[in-house]
Amino acid sequence: MNDTFLQACRGSRTAYTPVWFMRQAGRYLPEYQKVRGKVSFLELCKTPELAAEVTHQPIDLFGFDAAILFSDILIPMEAMNLDLAFHEGKGPIFANPIRDQRGVDELIVPDPDETMPFVMETIRLLRSSLQVPLIGFAGAPFTLATYLIEGGSSKVFLNTKRMMFQAPELYHNLMAKITACTSKYLQAQVRAGAQALQMFDSWVGILAPEDYKEFALPYVQSIIADLRAMTDIPLIYFANNGSTLTDLTTTAGADVLGFDWRLPIGEAVRRAGNHAVQGNIDPIALFLSQAKLEARIQSMLEEARDAKGYIFNLGHGILPQTPPEQVRIAVDAVHRLSAQA
Ligand code: CP3
Repeated sequence: MNDTFLQACRGSRTAYTPVWFMRQAGRYLPEYQKVRGKVSFLELCKTPELAAEVTHQPIDLFGFDAAILFSDILIPMEAMNLDLAFHEGKGPIFANPIRDQRGVDELIVPDPDETMPFVMETIRLLRSSLQVPLIGFAGAPFTLATYLIEGGSSKVFLNTKRMMFQAPELYHNLMAKITACTSKYLQAQVRAGAQALQMFDSWVGILAPEDYKEFALPYVQSIIADLRAMTDIPLIYFANNGSTLTDLTTTAGADVLGFDWRLPIGEAVRRAGNHAVQGNIDPIALFLSQAKLEARIQSMLEEARDAKGYIFNLGHGILPQTPPEQVRIAVDAVHRLSAQA
């Protein structure tokens, strides 16, 4: 078992810098497309043998140091009693967005083992076959709320912010339910065998710091406190586009902070203080020439050398257009250049 990733999360010295990529299992891989050609995305998430197969693909192909459960942050929202669909090219759609107290009242806080047994089964399958640690995950409450309130992806998040500002009680009632669901869901993943957890806060970057502090952060803190009471596995918090929020994200309670590419990694390390750091190359830097990509990786490794623990990653998910060969080049470079350092 290669536990370099877990060591880095805990802030121990490692023989080389471990690396995994957000969305490392996905559409840029012909091997994924082949499986996906036979089933819809949601069926893929709900069929443990297939979900485990695509989770394995990037590990077997490129030698990543951690696997991430193949699923989606919106799976537990479906279990809360919402009608979720993925439309080709449009992303996720909730047919009945939540805009009033009745909508909140109709949400259930599901028992994850009963409503999402396929997730726990995928985790168990993976634990019996993987030689690297398995990361479980969930969306952070604010990011999940944006999908529920907007009904899908959004650019300005008008409905979400309008609810925050005009109907704060309604907003907080909704967040309380999402938070209860997410806390139970992550705890179930730990019981099934997840060896680290990441919370994706993909959209908090749209919030002013004072609003993040009031409307998003307390819910992240509460989930992390619940997890701390039942496990000591590493907890990673990724606040995408969060460089204006670091005074606050450092109080979330996570062991590891994930960063997008807008902050230089050296600055991220300084702000992260006693946390391990994960990130943060621009996913589109994978389109650089090999020489330039390797030079950029080299300078990131140097800038991050004082981190309490460093896990190399992208600053956000890999794009479907990425040539798989470039992923191999990047992973090999992280391993080779960090082992020399
Ligand atoms: O990282 C991994 O490899 C694990 C799997 C994973 C997926 N989604 C698979 C997926 C993870 C961790 C996620 C998280 C996720 N899902 C987030 C948070 C991370 C981030 O990117 O900020 C968000 C916001 C979602 C919601 C979501 N799921 C969207 C917006 C979309 C559509 C995106 C698009 O480009 O069409 C999805 C679908 C999705 N999730 C796919 C995959 C592989 C593509 C599905 C397909 O095969 O068509």
